[in-house]
Amino acid sequence: MTKKLFIQTYGCQMNLADSEEMAAHLLSRGYSLTENLDEADLALVNTCTVRDHAEHRALSFLGRLRQWKREKDGRHILFAGCAAQRLGEKLKKTFPYLDLVSGARDIDHFADLLDKSGLFSLQHGGDLPAKGVTGYVTIMRGCDFACTYCIVPSVRGPVHCLPSKDICARAAQKAKEGFPEIMLLGQTVNAWKEEGKTFADLLNEVSALPGVQRVRFVSPHPAFITPQFLQVVENNPKIARHIHLPAQSGSTKVLQEMKRGYTREILLEKIRALKARGFAISTDLIVGFPTETQEDFEQTLTLVEEAGFSAAYCFKYSPRLGTPAAQMPLLREKVLEERLDILLNKVRGLADDAYAAHVGKEIEILMESPHKGRSSDNFWAQTKKSYTIGTIVKTVAEASDGTLLFTRD
Ligand code: SAH
Ligand code: SF4
Ligand code: F3S
Repeated sequence: MTKKLFIQTYGCQMNLADSEEMAAHLLSRGYSLTENLDEADLALVNTCTVRDHAEHRALSFLGRLRQWKREKDGRHILFAGCAAQRLGEKLKKTFPYLDLVSGARDIDHFADLLDKSGLFSLQHGGDLPAKGVTGYVTIMRGCDFACTYCIVPSVRGPVHCLPSKDICARAAQKAKEGFPEIMLLGQTVNAWKEEGKTFADLLNEVSALPGVQRVRFVSPHPAFITPQFLQVVENNPKIARHIHLPAQSGSTKVLQEMKRGYTREILLEKIRALKARGFAISTDLIVGFPTETQEDFEQTLTLVEEAGFSAAYCFKYSPRLGTPAAQMPLLREKVLEERLDILLNKVRGLADDAYAAHVGKEIEILMESPHKGRSSDNFWAQTKKSYTIGTIVKTVAEASDGTLLFTRD
């Protein structure tokens, strides 16, 4: 009987892609996947530490695994990812039943780590089951920015770009496996470059691969929304018209203190350029950065209005040990909560408005099930007729309920 692997992933899409990569190594060591922890022999917990809350969730899950491990002989726990990177081997002191720790930076030699542990023997296993229409391809690891609130550079290390020929081979393979949509991944994905090539060139290359119908990418940084990028997307309809562009704040002063590398005005200019090319823009916003005044906060509120985001993920500032901002005095928790509340109220209607704005317009949806697909600008749509999964359907949105568009065909 094959051993079973259960995976719990926290954090961003980069972590999801890393979980896939780790799973592939474990599958080739004789494991098969299960979604039921009770029948698993190995629990892989891939963790996030971007905010205290994210790390806390991962650690409390690890706490619960103590009992799970006791219930059956031969069970193992593998703790991976960004929190594992931050906390390292000292985790084994608090959680002595933990078998293996593999930090986010260990991903490139994960196979060696498994082999050295002596816990896993190499036998040929099955392939990962194909799910959905999107194939994830990591194009760069790490981050060279130093946003003063952010722990990612310290857990993921400096930027390392993968060669374009490896990226294209991987994307071509994914398309062949039946993923017509390719999602390129990296913490500052659009900072990717290699000798003589920019991210925009890479987008063109990947979208020209056989079987690739649509290309998405996450997370871009506003600093790399360049004129060349804008020109390339204009001429390439396979590049999806949605961008998740984290703004973080609407106040130039706070942006400077965060070391984001742009002002409110520059950001708004880039947003206007993207919208003129048909992009829907979602964002991340932080409230309660240590130096954020009431006036700064209000600038974030007005940014939401001016930018016309299609969605905004709002976070309370969370101090991360070792980051420059963590040394500044914190605002009172009550202030953070109030500001988060106000901002959440402000962004609540954004999706409704963005969906409603599509009514009467042409859309191109990539079918994810016979009656449901996603538009190029990332809105869900339901069709009347049934279509083959993975095909692109051009139609018109006739109505919206704020979470779904209803199409003519
Ligand atoms: N590389 C991306 C962001 C990655 S982290 C970028 O620069 O745009 C994902 C999101 O978590 C960030 O956009 C930010 O909004 C939030 N975040 C990061 N550190 C945080 C902190 N210390 N407290 C609260 N939110 C934080
Ligand atoms: Fe963090 Fe800034 Fe790097 Fe994004 S760009 S991962 S927020 S340091
Ligand atoms: Fe979290 Fe690591 Fe991603 S800290 S947001 S999982 S890069």
